[in-house]
Formats: sequence, structure tokens, C-alpha cells
Amino acid sequence: MKKDLRRAVIAGNWKMNKTPSEAKALIEEMKPLVADAKCDVVLCVPFIDIPAAVEAAKGSNIKIGAENIHFKASGAYTGEVSADMLKEAGVEYVVIGHSERRQYFGETDQTVNLRTLAALNAGFKAIVCVGETLEQRELGYTETLLKYQTKMALTNVTAEQLKNVIIAYEPVWAIGTGVTATADQADEGNGFVRAAIAESYGADVAETVTVQYGGSMNAKNADELLSKVNVDGGLIGGASLKAEDFAIIVKAASK
Ligand code: 13P
Repeated sequence: MKKDLRRAVIAGNWKMNKTPSEAKALIEEMKPLVADAKCDVVLCVPFIDIPAAVEAAKGSNIKIGAENIHFKASGAYTGEVSADMLKEAGVEYVVIGHSERRQYFGETDQTVNLRTLAALNAGFKAIVCVGETLEQRELGYTETLLKYQTKMALTNVTAEQLKNVIIAYEPVWAIGTGVTATADQADEGNGFVRAAIAESYGADVAETVTVQYGGSMNAKNADELLSKVNVDGGLIGGASLKAEDFAIIVKAASK
């Protein structure tokens, strides 16, 4: 982390876990454990949990995020949720383009870009996910793929809007598998993302953008991953469902 240049952000991504009452209980448990954080603390929760999560997090340093956003303002888009709906519910962050959405729900680089623009235009902070599959890594395409996904996601995003963008590098092969990228692999991947931003916005701007690592980050490996210069935080799946583990990661990012 380079805390003098960019904010450290630890964000939980609960995915499809926790009912509203469970969300409330988990946040109540987390609040005292992360109260002294010297990094931004975010929990991205299922849509249905948002009201309970916002209520439970009130008055604390925990910010609430959604796991997706639609790019149209309203209309015939069954099952989708708009920026206005999320705004009114008290959401501040939105995860966009998670590999599970790309893999299972037809998310493409184009729709990731549209969702990113919708989120930024509505004043949210966007956590945009990129990452290579094992096959792409083994073929030697990691750098090309990460740069392509980053640039596609940021098409038509202004330098001013970029201040509200966080990129999460999540190698698909490390998500939910217990296989973590090594700290050097995470640093390298995050570096490719930063290089892509530098190509589009200049090196000075790229140095200010928070780039998270995600993929089996946990209480045991967070310290080492976060010690790397290009790793400015984490997007945490499984370990964000356990208050104590999540708090240990927040502490690691608070150093
Ligand atoms: P895990 O931490 O469970 O591997 O999930 C990472 C992730 O996908 C966060 O968005």
C-alpha cells in the first residue's frame, strides 16, 4: 500500500449469503471490531439486505455497498435494480463486473462499462472487478487481459470520475478456491491494472487509484498481500462473513 498517495479500502463482498436479520447481527458484531480502522471499511451485501445493513451500520465507520447496478434509469428490466433505488436505500459503493456475474449471468466488458458509467453518474463509488481465468494465465494472456478489461470498463470515464473508481484485481482461479495468488502475483496483477490506467490517464493519476486484490484473502495472508506496493486493499468474499476474520484483515490494512 502507498497510503500517502491512495486510500486503503477493505470491502466485503457477501455474494448470495445472509438474510436481513443475519446481516444485522453480523454488522452489529463487526462494528466494535473495526471501529478504529485506518482504512475505508465497506460491506457489499445482497439487495434485499441493504435496508437492514444501512440501519445497522448507522453511526459507525462501515459503509454499505450493493453487488450490482443496472445502467438504465428505469423500465422493463425484470430482476434489476436502478441507481435511484440504491441511492434512496443509502448505498455508497457498488461492485461491478464480478467474475461470477461475468461467468454465470452474461456480464460482458460492454455491460461492465455501462454499469460503471451509471454508478459514477449517480455519485456512487464503483468497485470494478477484473481478472484472468487459469486458462488465460497459462496461455500467457494475464497482462493483455487485465489491461483490456480495465480499459474497457473505464471507457468514457473522465479523470474526475476516476476519483470514485476502485479496481479489484480478482484472479478467477483464486476466488473461493482457497488458492490465493502469491503476494508477488497479486502485486504484479495490480501493477498491470495500474499500468493500463496510466496509459489512459497518465502515470500521476494512476498512482492515486486504489487497486484492491481479491481471491481467498483471509486473516492469515492479508498482512503479506497488503504489504505489496500495488495492493491497496482487498475485496473479501468468504472471510467477510466472519466478523473476527474480517476485522483482522481491516487491522492489517490499518498499519
Ligand atoms: P473469496 O474471498 O471467497 O475467495 O472471494 C473473493 C471474491 O470474489 C470477492 O469478490
